[in-house]
Amino acid sequence: KRSIAVMTSGGDAQGMNSVVRAVVRTAIFKNCQPFAIMEGYEGLVRGGPDYITPLKWEDVSGWNAIGGTNIGTARCMKFKEREGRLLGCFHLIQAGIDALIVCGGDGSLTGADLFRAEWPSLVSELLKTKKITQEEAQTYESLNICGVVGSIDNDMCSTDATIGAYSALSRICEAVDYVEATAASHSRAFVIEVMGRHCGWLALMAGISTSADFIFIPEEAVNPGTWRDEMCETISRHRKRNKRTTIVIVAEGALDRDLNPVTANDIYKTLVDRLKLDTRITTLGHVQRGGSAVAYDRVLATLQGVEAVNAVLDSVAGSASPIITVSENKIMRKSLVDSVKLTKSVASAIAAKDFGKVLSLRDPEFIE
Ligand code: F6P
Repeated sequence: KRSIAVMTSGGDAQGMNSVVRAVVRTAIFKNCQPFAIMEGYEGLVRGGPDYITPLKWEDVSGWNAIGGTNIGTARCMKFKEREGRLLGCFHLIQAGIDALIVCGGDGSLTGADLFRAEWPSLVSELLKTKKITQEEAQTYESLNICGVVGSIDNDMCSTDATIGAYSALSRICEAVDYVEATAASHSRAFVIEVMGRHCGWLALMAGISTSADFIFIPEEAVNPGTWRDEMCETISRHRKRNKRTTIVIVAEGALDRDLNPVTANDIYKTLVDRLKLDTRITTLGHVQRGGSAVAYDRVLATLQGVEAVNAVLDSVAGSASPIITVSENKIMRKSLVDSVKLTKSVASAIAAKDFGKVLSLRDPEFIE
């Protein structure tokens, strides 16, 4: 009987509980023993029954409707060191686990694949230092890993949607609709800052959904000399059509072409100084990650959790890890390493100001 562990790592996202629920129930259905690793990689490093816990079918009842992650998450520095990964390897072997499903963003998933690649050398070190027996070293000679992408930012190449993105988008839209009502009453402008350190998906989609007047995202850096004129010209045009509200949505990672941040304060000052608009700033912050998942994320997380269990059971010992994606509405397995590499090259192209490259990297043909 195989033992399959599941963990959530990095920033939480709505739908993570549905992944855990689906993994637990599919594992039981396939006659495997599911475990939860509590508090992300921190739980692996600490080990023991408080952090590596077997789960039963009924333990995850009702989890589809609960936001956040019930098994905890953390950003763990110790797992970035070999020493931390050695402890993680020991604790998994102690618990009899040889397959791990990680739900998190690109950093968490890269860590998972590194752990898989390093696993044989970690096992031999544990054997050499007599922490494990020869028999254990043989039984646990490889670790199967599978990634599921959980992030509100929708910031992973090769999947159309990360788990949590549509829930966060929906939360943003609700908040902007609320703001519209008060903005209209006072004929005010609002600058709304949304999450997205490197990725403007939330800002762009929220802008389209709420018919915002202007949007700033990291991938389309604005011209530092002209963006103020362009924004004011657009907003004035809208105001001349008797529009009583102005909504500007800015991603927290928005940049100009000189790589200076375009901040909510910059935008606020421009609207006040140039257009004399009565303006307020609303930073939505962690409200975007809160609340329960929308139906789409619950379904996506469930289908991907099921497929993750299938993928680890199909994995050939030592082979590279898959991630579960959704592409053209189909749940698929893709290479974890390639997807992360492509995602990082988009982020570094932004950092290197190569915006032409950003656009071509996002071209689906390039991605495939
Ligand atoms: O989950 C990613 C993200 O939402 C980013 O967009 C944001 O910058 C970050 O998390 C904030 O996370 P925290 O404050 O929890 O570290």
